[in-house]
Amino acid sequence: MQMKKFLFSGIAAALTAGAFLSTSALAQNNWPTKSITLVVPFAAGGPTDTVARLIAVPMGQSLGQTVIVENVNGAGGTIASTKVARAAPDGYTIYLHHMGMATANALYDKLPYDPLQNFDYIGQVADVPMVLLGKKDLPANNFKELEAYIKANGSKVTMANAGPGAVSQLCGLLFQSRMGVKLTNIPYKGTGPALTDLLGGQVDLLCDQTTQTIPYIKDGRVKAFGTTTLKRLPAIPNVPTLDEQGLKGFEVKVWHGMYTPKGVPKPILDKLNAALKKALNTPDVRKRLEDANIDIVSPDKMTPTGLKSHLEAEINRWGPIIRKSNIAD
Ligand code: MLT
Repeated sequence: MQMKKFLFSGIAAALTAGAFLSTSALAQNNWPTKSITLVVPFAAGGPTDTVARLIAVPMGQSLGQTVIVENVNGAGGTIASTKVARAAPDGYTIYLHHMGMATANALYDKLPYDPLQNFDYIGQVADVPMVLLGKKDLPANNFKELEAYIKANGSKVTMANAGPGAVSQLCGLLFQSRMGVKLTNIPYKGTGPALTDLLGGQVDLLCDQTTQTIPYIKDGRVKAFGTTTLKRLPAIPNVPTLDEQGLKGFEVKVWHGMYTPKGVPKPILDKLNAALKKALNTPDVRKRLEDANIDIVSPDKMTPTGLKSHLEAEINRWGPIIRKSNIAD
C-alpha cells in the first residue's frame, strides 16, 4: 500500500512536471502574446532613442506585436541597465544600449549589474560616428581657432554631455584630456536635450553622434570642429577628422547592441534575433541610417555571439584608456 502510494505520487509529480514543461514550451512557441517593451537608456529625441524607434516598428511588425519604446533616463544609462538586468526573463523586456554597456565598468566604482553575467544577447545593431560640435555664435571657426579660444577661456567654456557612462561624456572628457584643459561639463538626460541647448546657444560645445546632427552641420546651425573617426565622413566631407588636426588616433565610434535580461529561453531569443535582422534590412531603415552616416553592422555581428564577444573586447579595450586618461569619477 505504502509502495503504491509512493508510485502514485511519483507519477503525479512527473505528470505535473511534464505538463509544466509542455506549458512553458507552448508559451515559448506562442510568444509574443502581448506588447514588448524596448528600454532605451537616454532621453526621447536623442540618438539612441532614434535608432530604437526606427527598428521598433519593423521588429513589431515581424513579431506580430507592438514594440513600445520606454525611455529610462539617468546616470549615463546605468539606471536603465539595472532595471533591465532585474526584469523578468520572458522576452517582453528588451534593451538597446550603446558602448556605454562596456565603458560603465571602468567609469563607476561599483555597478549594480554585470554586463557579462546579467544579460542575454540578441545582436549588434549599428555603428555611429561622432562630431565635435560648437554653438553657431562661438568665435572659433575651425579647430585651430577653437584650441586658441579654449586656451584663452579655460573653464568659462561649457561642454554638454549625457552623464557618466554616456558616449558624449566619454568623447568630451577624452578631448579635454588630450587638449590638457578642464572645461565646465554640463550633464543632461541625453544628447537630445543637450543638442537643443547647443542650438539655442545655452552651451558652447557638445560631442554628439551623427544621428541627428548632419542637417544642422550642413546648414550652419552648429559648427563642426572635427569627426571622431579616422576617415572623413561621406555625408560631411569638408569636416576634417580630429586625428588629422593633431589629436592623433582620436577615435570614438559608437556601437549599439540589443539585450534581454539573463535567462530568456533560446527559442524566444532566436525570434528576437530574426526580427532584429529583418528590421535592419528594411529599405526605409537602411536609408534613414545611411543618411545619418550610420553603418549597419555585418550579419556575423548581428548575432548573440557577435555582440557578446564584441562587448568583452570593448570592456578590455576601454578600461585601460579610461584609467589612463584619468576621466573616471
Ligand atoms: C543619447 O541617446 O542621448 C546618447 O546616446 C547619449 C550619449 O551617450 O551621449
